[in-house]
Amino acid sequence: MSNRPLPWRLAWQQALYGPDGFFRRSRPADHFRTSVHVGMFAEAVAELARSTSAASVVDVGAGGGELLAALRDHLPGVHLAGVELAPRPAELPEDIDWMPALPERVDGLLIANEWLDNVPCDVVELDPAGVVREVLVDAATGEETLGPEHRNPWLDQWWPLTEPGQRAEVGTTRDLAWADAVRRVDGTAVAIDYGHRAGDRPPFGSLRSYRDGREVEVRPDGSCDVTADVAVDAVADAAGGTLLRQRDALARLGIDGSRPPIGLAHTDPAAYLRALGRAGEAGELGARGGLGDFWWIVSDTRGHGRLDA
Ligand SMILES: C[S@@+](CC[C@H](N)C(=O)[O-])C[C@H]1O[C@@H](n2cnc3c(N)ncnc32)[C@H](O)[C@@H]1O
Repeated sequence: MSNRPLPWRLAWQQALYGPDGFFRRSRPADHFRTSVHVGMFAEAVAELARSTSAASVVDVGAGGGELLAALRDHLPGVHLAGVELAPRPAELPEDIDWMPALPERVDGLLIANEWLDNVPCDVVELDPAGVVREVLVDAATGEETLGPEHRNPWLDQWWPLTEPGQRAEVGTTRDLAWADAVRRVDGTAVAIDYGHRAGDRPPFGSLRSYRDGREVEVRPDGSCDVTADVAVDAVADAAGGTLLRQRDALARLGIDGSRPPIGLAHTDPAAYLRALGRAGEAGELGARGGLGDFWWIVSDTRGHGRLDA
């Protein structure tokens, strides 16, 4: 690994997606839990697909294919495909397609859970003289230095820095990635991620790393995930989408977190336990301070959509 400091975007790209990159070698599920690992999430996505008469569901950044495998039971006859840089999981049912890049057209539903936060971006910092500078990083040590001036109208519009030491993750790469995905869709596209809007940006940025289920020191050396929250308002603007919190999206899709009546425990204990399990999953997916705070960026390219208020 070179010790030359690189702009964060390049170091991050190499760390996750280079020949020996983190996501080429390891399954996301081995390192963190996402909504796709909670059973009721597939029910919500299936309801969205059914209600929009989707002929196909394409999962971008499909990880280990967990969502697609779960959808298969809910959506007989619907074509399912994963877009993923990592190899096809050996256990994935044969009738689910697996491809390294987005198809030119998607007829139905495009879904991307926790993809955009892993799309690398430039990291910038306002220096003591009031100049926005690119942050460079030594991939091996994580040591940072300030590089050349970074001018970008995106920052002026979406994330202006006002105090020396403040940092931003420049969202242009995420905006472009999602707009490029949405333009291929005849139907509905949903990107789901943690993020912020103007007014609640993290003043010093949100770069983080995870490995084996724990947050670790941020380091673009391929040994851990590198992620940063998504400027969701900018992405929605670039792709022509609307924003809602996951808990509200799930409610509109009929996912109910209320506990079953205690009387059921006496008349049908097995049904009671099943219903209790489902309520627990719905609660996890909608939790405040947790997955429920995630943003759904929704674009309906046919006009009115199922998730409209
Ligand atoms: C955080 S994981 C999310 C996995 C899964 N969607 C989930 O929710 O558990 C992000 C995934 O996106 C994949 N990915 C990132 N950029 C990609 C690209 N341009 N094309 C295909 N897959 C990509 C990574 O390989 C990784 O598996």
